[in-house]
Amino acid sequence: MPILGVNIDHVATIRQARYREVPDSPNASPDPVEAALIAEQAGAKGITAHLREDRRHIQDRDILRLREKITTKLNLEMGASEEIARIALEIIPDDVCLVPENRREVTTEGGLNCADQLDELRPLVARLKGRGIRVSLFIDPDEAQIEAAAELGADFVEIHTGAYANAAGSGAELKRLITAAGLAVAAGLRVNAGHGLNYHNLRPVLAMSGLEELNIGHSIVSRAVIVGMAEAVREMCSIIAEA
Ligand code: PXP
Repeated sequence: MPILGVNIDHVATIRQARYREVPDSPNASPDPVEAALIAEQAGAKGITAHLREDRRHIQDRDILRLREKITTKLNLEMGASEEIARIALEIIPDDVCLVPENRREVTTEGGLNCADQLDELRPLVARLKGRGIRVSLFIDPDEAQIEAAAELGADFVEIHTGAYANAAGSGAELKRLITAAGLAVAAGLRVNAGHGLNYHNLRPVLAMSGLEELNIGHSIVSRAVIVGMAEAVREMCSIIAEA
């Protein structure tokens, strides 16, 4: 059964909406670390956070506190920038997921184009792996990207489920996900998936072969606003368990 990694970026998005100008305020809330600890107690087996270059949601201090306090595992999402790589190499998350980063996007859009960036990514993947960090590459369900991820020596691919989610769970997009997962396993890669997954579209995705981890953020944080973090995580875990 795949594990649930809860992405807590949008807890920080809510905090930043009020406290960006006064980060040291004792009232700054909600705290993404508190949300992460509740998510773990409710069944999450990993916590994911994206330290963006523009620091629009998660801040450096959040990552340090997550590293210190969570008891499952920390998956740091990051763009391939030297500044963030140095932070990763200092705090040593359990996993790093390399994602494309574009300052104008609201959230991560397409997958990382590894096939066109082999020379740029190779040294970064090697440096991270050299410090014992497992490396995942967030890619579209595309054969050329899977081959490139294998060539780069990534441990995992995280297959981008956004097109499937945006196409309202279309059969053709689901088929792409399932085919890509099979190709990744055959190439010796471990398989995660995420982006745009929610309480309604998750079940069919669980047919992806070798699926080890689902990274889900927005739908859980949105549901948490209504029913609380613990219940939102429990509901997602039970969908995974039923399947
Ligand atoms: N996986 C990756 C690599 C992402 O960039 C994101 C979005 O930050 C997610 C998973 C979670 O996406 P969502 O918030 O839509 O669940």
